[in-house]
Amino acid sequence: MKSGRKLAPTIIVIFGGTGDLTKRKLIPAFYNLHIDGWMPEKFAIIGLGRTKLTDDEYKDHLYEGLVEFSRKGKPDDGQWQQFNAAISYFESNINDTVAYQGLAAKLDALDQAWGLRANRLFYLSVAPQFIEATTVNISKYGLANIPASDRIIIEKPFGYNKQTAVALNNLLGQTFQEDQIYRIDHYLGKETVQNILAFRFANALFEPLWNRNYIDYIQITVAEQVGVEDRGSYYEHSGALRDMIQNHLLQVLCMIAMEAPISFQAEEIRNRKVDVMRAIRRLRPEEVHKYAVRGQYGAGWINGKKVPGYREEGGVDHDSNTETYAAVQLYIDNWRWQGVPIYLRTGKRMQEKTSSITIQFRPVPHSTFSPSQAGNLMPNRLTINIQPSMDIRLRFTAKKQGLEMSLNPAEMVFNYDTCSTQTPEAYETLLLDAMRGDATLFMRSDQVEEAWDVITPILEAWESRDSLDFPNYAAGTWGPESSEALIARQGHVWAINLHS
Ligand code: BG6
Repeated sequence: MKSGRKLAPTIIVIFGGTGDLTKRKLIPAFYNLHIDGWMPEKFAIIGLGRTKLTDDEYKDHLYEGLVEFSRKGKPDDGQWQQFNAAISYFESNINDTVAYQGLAAKLDALDQAWGLRANRLFYLSVAPQFIEATTVNISKYGLANIPASDRIIIEKPFGYNKQTAVALNNLLGQTFQEDQIYRIDHYLGKETVQNILAFRFANALFEPLWNRNYIDYIQITVAEQVGVEDRGSYYEHSGALRDMIQNHLLQVLCMIAMEAPISFQAEEIRNRKVDVMRAIRRLRPEEVHKYAVRGQYGAGWINGKKVPGYREEGGVDHDSNTETYAAVQLYIDNWRWQGVPIYLRTGKRMQEKTSSITIQFRPVPHSTFSPSQAGNLMPNRLTINIQPSMDIRLRFTAKKQGLEMSLNPAEMVFNYDTCSTQTPEAYETLLLDAMRGDATLFMRSDQVEEAWDVITPILEAWESRDSLDFPNYAAGTWGPESSEALIARQGHVWAINLHS
């Protein structure tokens, strides 16, 4: 029997129930958890939205999402019927108090029918301006009045800057205790990202080398081929730094750079991660141009197709100053990492879709081999591919087969695809954890605030001065030239062709 069966009965309430995230990610995740036996025996999903829909129309809408986006494809009819019996729709206006009274009645009716007070999981998949009304009303109508069993999941963006993030934390703190608040960063739910902890702390082999004595530099790249799609008006006020670096890339960096936790308890891990965040050196305003680079895509070619530039996308200003590419060079001021450059970069409309971490080791201290034998002797490199390839590769040097001593790079590879084709989606992992009450993979308030603090000098510098060279990279390339220059100063290059 799967452990999901042991979960307490749970009612999931989705604010933003007709939104894209619900259709693309949440419902497919709950459905897959259901057919794999992880959902509680008793559960209900209530979707809230302003659109006028019957329950059946709502279910049809969600079904389309399953067919299109579920990793398991079109659902089996029987299983879908069984699952959708737990779904209902509640037409409501988030700002209207009547909605919360209606919701309270709905929740109470379910409790009565089940003969117990079910756990309640509120999922806020709404624009930031609606969070206040929602949480205030949840509190006012006593919808989450049992701290031990009621939880709230908040989607990013978590604040717009440090000040608004602090305000949001304070606001949530008036209704919920910190251990009821699940701030989601879907990167932390990715199988390959979770594996960083297993790789680092379940093996004795790598940890002794995992420091400034052996590691030359670290790179984290999250490159996307997509542009801003239909999210232009959101992205205009976000940009790559806020959209990706403040959360996903810094969170991944914490997994790479944290000290060994004493146990796998949520607080223990989150304490070690926040230590990293706090140790990241803050840039002085006059240093920003030296350590951070921004870019914006112009028209170009992706997979043989012409695509428009960012300024031609829907909802985007024709002279927009928003960056669609950002690269930063950071340092972590602690004993382990002092002096090791850490490069983070992310961009839209890049040549390839790839999320990957490169740990570049130092070269051997002395070459035993003559130049003709050594050939192109390359230092060891560990590559952790997060997506779409999911593997871990260790580059080392080996002798080329033959009668002469001649060296060649070789690779040891651990590939997820050869282990299983059924890797759970990040949202499956995270939603199950939230139902279980395990916050390990969620962001704590202090982590979020520190992450804003790290990027604040860059945000402020970029907002105070327009970039005069936008657009400065063509779609389908690896970003602006200035980003090559950023790391070339230390004699480094981006590990672009990550599979070679
Ligand atoms: C989201 C960003 O958080 O992550 C998007 O808002 C981005 O702009 C997405 O496209 C990337 O996620 P993934 O899982 O596709 O790498």
